[in-house]
Amino acid sequence: MNGNITFSMIKPDAVGNHYIGQILAQMTEAGFQIKAMKLTELTVNQARAFYAVHKDRPFYNDLVEFMTSGPVVALLLEKENAVEDFRTLIGSTDPSKADKGTIREKYAESIQNNAVHGSDSNENAIIESDFFFSKLERV
Ligand code: CMP
Repeated sequence: MNGNITFSMIKPDAVGNHYIGQILAQMTEAGFQIKAMKLTELTVNQARAFYAVHKDRPFYNDLVEFMTSGPVVALLLEKENAVEDFRTLIGSTDPSKADKGTIREKYAESIQNNAVHGSDSNENAIIESDFFFSKLERV
């Protein structure tokens, strides 16, 4: 499965704006299979740990506050070339720069409230999936 999985989250902005259904449909129509999924709320410590790589960035505290502001949908997705294809599907981090028809172009509010997360490497896809899902929670 190495190289064929990615981790995603539907973030609090998109959950609050009632976009879960449309976003899941766009993911599955693009060929991604859902291997694990949960609706959950991150604690401050969990959000800080998940985004620890950004801890020295000026937006880190605001990002943690945003990511703990409401529920998220965590997803383990499978597809050939999953990481790269998923990043193409979601579009640029900044929705104003995202290609037309991408998930962020359609559903994101801002560079921070950008609707979805997608892993940036195969290594991080495994780390991030393990952060959220036990073996028992995966099909
Ligand atoms: P994500 O792909 O989940 O990875 C890190 C997150 O930090 C990113 O999406 C945004 O939510 C947020 N982020 C990245 N760059 C900025 C920025 N310049 N200003 C505010 N938030 C950002």
